[in-house]
Amino acid sequence: MIPSSQLAALRTARHLVVFTGAGVSAESGIPTFRDSLTGLWQRFDAASLATLEAYQQHPALVWGWYEWRRMHVLQAQPNAAHQAIAELARHVPRLTLVTQNVDDLHERAGSEDVIHLHGSLHHPRCVVCGREPSKPLPPPDEPAEGRRLEPPKCEYCDGRLRPGVVWFGESMPAGALDEAFAAARHCDVLISVGTSGVVYPAAEMPERAWRAGATIIHVNPQPSVTHDEREYALSGPAGLVLPRLLQEAFGS
Ligand code: OAD
Repeated sequence: MIPSSQLAALRTARHLVVFTGAGVSAESGIPTFRDSLTGLWQRFDAASLATLEAYQQHPALVWGWYEWRRMHVLQAQPNAAHQAIAELARHVPRLTLVTQNVDDLHERAGSEDVIHLHGSLHHPRCVVCGREPSKPLPPPDEPAEGRRLEPPKCEYCDGRLRPGVVWFGESMPAGALDEAFAAARHCDVLISVGTSGVVYPAAEMPERAWRAGATIIHVNPQPSVTHDEREYALSGPAGLVLPRLLQEAFGS
């Protein structure tokens, strides 16, 4: 049973922000980062895979790991949570979708203009000239976990391609963070889905929206910390909770 105050806030929202993390893709079979046992950062050392220094020292190891992740995403399908978010956009005057995820499952579920704060597995770029390949890279052959793959050469210069993700120590894509924070400042409701909220500055999104007067709804199987009566937690997997929220608020 979803409290009527949350449903009312959603029904009357003029600008809704949905802020997502790895948990929204968990039910598509994409591992999160910090869940015990299955989280990527529980099984792999972030410093030796997700930094520019790691790529410079062991390019084939790092490229192979990201190709392995890209292959998983290409084989996955959007789940009921991605679909509910795409559907929500049809019921509110304005929806801004901000994700920390590097997969393309929101887009494949039909969401448009997704703000990717941490980049994308699907947009590699040259480590020297910064340009993206003119055509999408073919799906990786059969990258196994831990298999090394030489990064392809850039078609414009002598450089090599690197994954188009934001690594630890790097800045976010120009404009993306400003746009996301502006949406947090001006929205009426922010739904935060499937994030541990520990990676800053992205994790400031709910806090910024709350300070600006918005209603905050957290969707997570784990308990969320809430400040006051304007901040709620809906406990459960996003693939169950979001379709129910959509159904109860808008009857669809
Ligand atoms: P985390 O792995 O830190 O957190 C995933 C969250 O999803 C946890 O709070 C889980 O409880 C929750 N969760 C798990 N299954 C879920 C489900 N079915 N439905 C809803 N929630 C579920 O992932 P993020 O918060 O996204 O950064 O991590 C933030 C950043 O840390 C990532 O973007 C990545 C990583 O290092 C970069 O790559 C720069």
